Amino acid sequence: MEQYVIKGGSPLYGEVEIGGAKNSALAILAASVMTDETVTIENLPNVRDINVLLQAIEEIGAKVERVDAHKVMISGSSIQDVTVDNEYIRKIRASYYLIGALLGKYKKAQVALPGGCEIGSRPIDLHIKGFRAMGADVDIAHGLVCAEATGLKGTHIYLDKVSVGATMNIMMAAAMAEGKTVIENAAKEPHVVDLANFLNSMGASIRGAGTDVIRIVGTDKLHGTEYSIIPDQIEAGTFMFAAAAAGGNVLVKNVIPKHLEATTAKLLEVGCTIEEFDDAVRVISSGKLTHTQVTTLPYPGFPTDMQPQMAVVLAIAEGTSTITESIFENRFRYVDELTRMGASIKVESNIAIITGVEKYTGARVNAPDLRAGAALVIAGLCAEGVTIIDDIHYVERGYEDFEGKLRGIGAQMEKVCSDKELQKFILKVS
Ligand code: EPZ
Repeated sequence: MEQYVIKGGSPLYGEVEIGGAKNSALAILAASVMTDETVTIENLPNVRDINVLLQAIEEIGAKVERVDAHKVMISGSSIQDVTVDNEYIRKIRASYYLIGALLGKYKKAQVALPGGCEIGSRPIDLHIKGFRAMGADVDIAHGLVCAEATGLKGTHIYLDKVSVGATMNIMMAAAMAEGKTVIENAAKEPHVVDLANFLNSMGASIRGAGTDVIRIVGTDKLHGTEYSIIPDQIEAGTFMFAAAAAGGNVLVKNVIPKHLEATTAKLLEVGCTIEEFDDAVRVISSGKLTHTQVTTLPYPGFPTDMQPQMAVVLAIAEGTSTITESIFENRFRYVDELTRMGASIKVESNIAIITGVEKYTGARVNAPDLRAGAALVIAGLCAEGVTIIDDIHYVERGYEDFEGKLRGIGAQMEKVCSDKELQKFILKVS
């Protein structure tokens, strides 16, 4: 079983290049099946969830040509089947984007109920509400979401909750519905805008993405396109928090600083120095930081996907901090693991009360989910001694070459596949 092993205590210095946004790429790959022409997508992150979705797209008959690790050409003209169900697709959350894409193009879709990180119940009732509002029959049977429509008609949809997935899924179906659709209380994340731009480059008519009202005029045909995915603001933020916690001076390259405003604001509050450039952000930190309060909110608020990383920084900052998780009901599963490394955190309902301690001590811990796993890596970078992290397959769902990029800025870290390799690393660093 693969593990990360980290010798903590080295500050981070150097430059790191950020890849394409996973949560944008997943929706855009799904939307690629909405045309019979060829779609070329660049700046794809080469991570597990992307590869699982590409395999599912190929399995329904689309032609998928992986030009290289970060570029793919997809042609939906040969799609024969609109049923997507295999053991891998059931493990990822983004499988649900194929419902909106296939329903939009073929007016029929049967897709395995989504899986994904266990950070809460993660229903898809808002997605289904949107599809039904456009005239589709949607049922859940035998673990599949079955959606079908004689024709999709544009309509006015109000989302009771701000939902990234529902906003993007409904946008895809509405792009090929008849007439106008208005999505109110829409999510405003950068990846919602990226999907809208992608669909518009295929001939869709979507206005208002990035605001809470998105207007779509459906079309009966979409054409091929060439498109490059935006940089991943969550990967970028993760490296920014790593520099903050471990101390040092790191230039995070290939980012859109505007997408990182909430993260930058919090890092300034806890005592980091931040320099912003056109497509890069520099983080300078003494490693000795101070307390603050954080509440996770939909974009442009502080991202829930950065919440575990923020907690790792605050748990070794001076003073008492609080983190309120307002998006998911079970996103503090990493607290027990951090406690094993010396943290002092008390969780009451959706609030974590964090009493800063002097330092972490290395321990053997488990990654409970994608972002929490990345946060435990950050804790290992600052810890006294060696940290071993199990279940790193979660981290590899969303971070490409995480250990290589961290080694590139000075981390003493390896991915090991055997006890022998583990002992070899420990001998090398001791
Ligand atoms: C997306 O999940 C991301 N995943 C998540 O990133 C991210 O944390 C989340 O958006 C919020 O930004 C992907 O894009 C693949 P939501 P999603 O719908 O779409 C509730 C990561 O680390 N809700 O915005 O599932 C839901 O339970 C992952 O990369 C409903 O009640 O999130 C949650 O409380 C983790 N009914 C809230 O809305 C629905 O039909 C926001 O969820 C849909 C959602």
